[in-house]
Amino acid sequence: MAVSFDEELARILREQKWLKEDLVSLLALQDPEAIESLRAAAEAMLLEQCGAGVNLRGLIEFSNLCVCDCLYCGIRKGNRVVERYSLSDDEIIDSARWCAEKGYGSVVLQSGERRDRKFVDRLVANIRVIKEVTRSEKQPNGVGITLCVGEQTREDYQRLHEAGAHRYLLRMETSSRELFAALHPATQSYDNRLACLKTLREVGFMVGTGVMIGIPGQTIEQLADDLLFFRQLDIDMIGMGPYIPHADAAMPADLPVPDVATRMDLAFKMIGIARLMLRDVNIAATTALQALDPVGRERGLRFGANVIMPQVTPLHVRKNYTLYDGKPCLEDSAGQCATCLEQRIDSVGRFIRYDGWGDSAHFARRNNLPVGMNEAPAPHRHVPGQSANKIIKLHLKQ
Ligand code: 5AD
Repeated sequence: MAVSFDEELARILREQKWLKEDLVSLLALQDPEAIESLRAAAEAMLLEQCGAGVNLRGLIEFSNLCVCDCLYCGIRKGNRVVERYSLSDDEIIDSARWCAEKGYGSVVLQSGERRDRKFVDRLVANIRVIKEVTRSEKQPNGVGITLCVGEQTREDYQRLHEAGAHRYLLRMETSSRELFAALHPATQSYDNRLACLKTLREVGFMVGTGVMIGIPGQTIEQLADDLLFFRQLDIDMIGMGPYIPHADAAMPADLPVPDVATRMDLAFKMIGIARLMLRDVNIAATTALQALDPVGRERGLRFGANVIMPQVTPLHVRKNYTLYDGKPCLEDSAGQCATCLEQRIDSVGRFIRYDGWGDSAHFARRNNLPVGMNEAPAPHRHVPGQSANKIIKLHLKQ
C-alpha cells in the first residue's frame, strides 16, 4: 500500500500537472504511512527551496473594531458581547520596536476591518514611524511590515505601500463562491475580495491569501480548488488553518463541524500539498493549528511551513481579539512567547532566521532578486537541544 502510494506521489511530483483528481486523492489519504510520505516529501521540498530557517512576524492585533459581519468570526460587527479596543499609537509602535530589538525581522499589523479616512491615515502614520524607529545596523531598512486589514481601495493600498508596508495578507477564506456566500452577508462580495487580491499585486505588495479548513459543509473537492486557486493567482504567501467555532459567532447550526482530528489532518495535508505544488512560497504555521493541538504549529513546520507569527499584542487587550474559541497564548507575555518559540522550533530540527525580513523566495525569484535561504542560525541566539524539546518530540512521534 505505502509502496504503491510512494510511486503515485513520485509520479505526481514528476509530472507536475497537479490535476484536481490528484489533489483530491492526496487530501483523501488516510493511511498513516502514506501521509508520512507526503509530509517527508513536503519537508524535503521546503529544505531544498527555502532552507531550514523559520521566519518570524511579530503579530500586533491593534484593534478589534470591525465593519464586517463574517458569520464565523468572533469579532464580527454583530457581536455585541466583545469589548472593543484600539491600541494607542504608542502601544503599536512600542510593540514593533520590541520585535525589532528581539531580532524579529518583521511585524504583522492586523485588525478588524475599517475603511474610514481616520483609520487609514493613522495606519499610514504608524507604518512610517515604525519604519523609522526600527532601523538599526542589523536592520538598516527597519522591520518588514505585513498588513492584514482587509479590503481597501486601490488608493489606500497605494498609500499603505508607499508608507513602507511591503506585504499584505488577505484571506479568500474559500475559493468556492457558494461557500463564500454562505459564510458572509450579501454586502461582502467574493468578486471584491478577488479584485482586492489582484490590486494588491499591482500596487507592488507581496501578496498572501489563505482559506479556512474544515468549515461545516466544505468538501475536499473545494479544498482542492483552493490549492488550484493559490497557484492560479501565483500567490507569494499562504496562511491557512482549521476552522474553529466561536460561541458568539453566527454560523448556521444545521451542518456539523468536522471533528478536531479530521480538521487538523486536512490542515496538515493542505500545507504539505501547497508546499509540494507551489514550492518556494512562504507558508505560515498558524495560531489556529496551535489552538487545536498544543504542538500544532510544530507539526505545521514539519509539513513544510516556514513562517510563525508570535503574539506580541499587549496582554491587556489580547483576550478581546478572539476570532475563535480556545485561542492559545492569551496569558503569556511577548517575552515568554519568544523563549517558548525557540525551543519549539529547535525541537523540529529548524532554526529561527533572526534580523531579516524573510521574504518569500517565490517573490524574489519572480522578480529576479537574490534569494536569502542559506544563512546559518545566529549562534548567539540559538539554543540547541534543550531538554524541554524532548517533550515536544514525544508529542510529535504520537
Ligand atoms: N476559525 C478559524 N479561523 C478564523 N478566522 C476568523 N474566524 C475564524 C474561525 N472561527 C481567520 C480568518 C481570517 C483570519 C484573520 O482569521 O481566516 O481571515
